[in-house]
Amino acid sequence: MSGVRVGIVGVGNCASGIIQGVQMRRSGHKGSQGLGNEKIGDYRIEDIRFVSAFDIGANKIGTPLGKAIYASPNVVDWLPSVPGLDVTVKESPVLDGVGIYVGNKIKPVKNTKSISALRDAAVDELKRTKTDVIVNYLPVGSQKATEFWAEVALEAGCGMVNCMPVFIASNEAWANRFAAARIPIVGDDVKGVVGATIVHRTLAQLCADRGVEVTKTYQINVGGNTDFLNMKEQSRLESKRISKTEAVQTVLSERLPPERIYVGPSDFIPYLGNTKIAFIRIEGKMFPGIPFNMEMRLDVDDKANSAGIVVDAVRYCKIALDRKVGGPLNEVSGWLMKHPPVPMSDDKAQAAVKVWLAAPSARKSKQSV
Ligand SMILES: NC(=O)c1ccc[n+]([C@@H]2O[C@H](COP(=O)([O-])OP(=O)(O)OC[C@H]3O[C@@H](n4cnc5c(N)ncnc54)[C@H](O)[C@@H]3O)[C@@H](O)[C@H]2O)c1
Repeated sequence: MSGVRVGIVGVGNCASGIIQGVQMRRSGHKGSQGLGNEKIGDYRIEDIRFVSAFDIGANKIGTPLGKAIYASPNVVDWLPSVPGLDVTVKESPVLDGVGIYVGNKIKPVKNTKSISALRDAAVDELKRTKTDVIVNYLPVGSQKATEFWAEVALEAGCGMVNCMPVFIASNEAWANRFAAARIPIVGDDVKGVVGATIVHRTLAQLCADRGVEVTKTYQINVGGNTDFLNMKEQSRLESKRISKTEAVQTVLSERLPPERIYVGPSDFIPYLGNTKIAFIRIEGKMFPGIPFNMEMRLDVDDKANSAGIVVDAVRYCKIALDRKVGGPLNEVSGWLMKHPPVPMSDDKAQAAVKVWLAAPSARKSKQSV
């Protein structure tokens, strides 16, 4: 079996995390066994191969992927090295990938080729390496760069997992293009394994299920990696806010007016590194009109949270490719992503994924939820 051949777009901390995580599983690293979804269809976590990679960091382009995942400003160090990752990181167009706060940390290359030459080179590289699925790990706010890579995926015939909040799977025009080309896409914006979003949704769902009215809620997140540094730039955050806020609004029994809900990344604290801390508060009323409030604090490795989801997303995407199913994978996106094309509760999404997986042959995901 050829496995799941993955291309990385943006060799940052999330990429470093998933690559080190897969290697930990493959090498039988003590402590990594038995966690996550061992097998999806015929594919094990160990069957994921990283066969192509693209970035704009001058210190990453032209180097082997096994070296680039440790290059500054990446900070994931679960393993001291990952052997056998010889694929060379190729150049991507910078476009809107670099925000004002991260510019001096990333040191972007000066693109000398035209966008169309870089597009042709990227398509050639994906075909040459027989990449099945590209994983988009670009920084928040990279609208043009993400659209560039969606075009490349369509042209190269690769599936796409869109880990960040530029809306592609959940944008009708893009979704239709992926459906017409019979290319699967999972998106948008990863919902971490035990991340702030799924915890907030679970608590909100509990309130809905118990007949409780939620009157106000907030979610504040702080972290110390380049993702959080980039998100200090408010103008890059519009779609992230929508993605995170809608993830909560869609499980409330009644939507809250904007002045009574705040869900956002909120600050950068350098010494936290990849540790993300989320503070969640829900205020409400229960029978017979008696107020209550609850607060919780989550302290979690941001990149483990992402990697545990993306190892599943790429395998579902590969299964869709095997079945020749194109367009947004609604059930899978509902389960794994914050801003899916079809929002649904997490328990319904999980059940729908099981049905989707058990379906014997190709069918249009778009029509199935
Ligand atoms: N738990 C999580 O970590 C989580 C959850 C949901 C979404 N996300 C999103 O995933 C994305 C990746 O997160 P990260 O922590 O790896 O970020 P990061 O800043 O560590 O990595 C981003 C990488 O993209 C590269 N890049 C920038 N512009 C580029 C371009 N035009 N072409 C190619 N590469 C480019 C940078 O050089 C860097 O290597 C972010 O958008 C983040 O918000 C992460």
